[in-house]
Amino acid sequence: MNKNITVLSGDGIGPEIIAEAVKVLGRVGEKFGHSFAYTYVDIGGCSIDKYGVPITPEGMEKCLSADSVLLGAVGGPKWDIVPQSIRPEKALLAVRKELGLFANLRPTKLFPMLASASPLKESIVGNGIDLLIVRELTGGVYFGRHTTEEVDGETVATDIMSYSRHEIERIGRVAFETATKRRKKLASVDKANVLDTSRLWRSVMHSLAEEYPQVEYCDILVDNAAMQLVKNPGQFDVIVTENMFGDILSDEASMLTGSIGMMPSASLSSGTLGMYEPIHGSAPDIAGQDIANPLGTILSAAMMLRYSFDMAAEADAIESAVDTVLNRGFRTADIFTPDCEKVSCSAMGSLVAELI
Ligand code: IPM
Ligand code: MG
Repeated sequence: MNKNITVLSGDGIGPEIIAEAVKVLGRVGEKFGHSFAYTYVDIGGCSIDKYGVPITPEGMEKCLSADSVLLGAVGGPKWDIVPQSIRPEKALLAVRKELGLFANLRPTKLFPMLASASPLKESIVGNGIDLLIVRELTGGVYFGRHTTEEVDGETVATDIMSYSRHEIERIGRVAFETATKRRKKLASVDKANVLDTSRLWRSVMHSLAEEYPQVEYCDILVDNAAMQLVKNPGQFDVIVTENMFGDILSDEASMLTGSIGMMPSASLSSGTLGMYEPIHGSAPDIAGQDIANPLGTILSAAMMLRYSFDMAAEADAIESAVDTVLNRGFRTADIFTPDCEKVSCSAMGSLVAELI
């Protein structure tokens, strides 16, 4: 197959980790007879510096016309002072919205050989963590009206959170379908004791639950979910939630494994177009030193093969190469322990590529 991938390397360590994912994809192409063509587009701070905007309309066009999009990371302290309207994050939200990427899949898996990196006790993570957060990505308070105005002599800021039935239903369906292919458990997280959006959310999820009797379904309030994630993370299989709750809980979940540099993500539309990125940030403090962990990006490329290109065997090949490299004791600095061999970002990418 021939596939066109638009690559948004972004800022900080973005270009370094992306280079390793492209290296691994190159090997997959050779091995399985595919050709991947790459179009590089600036996003975030690097685009602000060059064009004064975090993504240009031409850049956005190249995302829309691609078979899929691979993203490194955006932002950094250098651009913290730019006006709100052109902040690096704006580009990310715009790409999500324009490409219709309403379903964000964020898996959190504890790699057994990295268990000691978890900040949680062995008694809590000992049974393993393998959960998937399905986060609604194009609705809710992120995309409601935001205003700051003077009312009766004082400043009042307002952010509107709104959800329509169809937005909830389509993300709910993704979550139930995903749970069906995993351990068949789904927890829907809301704040139905306070929010109208959550009450609608819950009623839509309950109707869907009737269509999926094979999935063991439960509701859980977001504050309790935050607590349960550290108390007993092993109870979760798939978690579905709205945009902002998903933002917060997915950071919490990623930390349970202690190796945020390993965690991939996929943002999917109703078609095959998706955007794939590691969940960590641009880490400007270590940029340019060839010490970042490229595995989150490499595993994101595997998700791209699986979800956008329907290449399951190719995705499996990447994932098992990553397992093997870790089992052989190779570690980047962020997951290094003294009994292991420390390798650079580019060496890690080569090790994975060689095993494909
Ligand atoms: C994420 C990030 C973004 C979000 C920011 C950078 C806008 O935190 O992808 O989780 O809040 O969605
Ligand atoms: Mg976040």
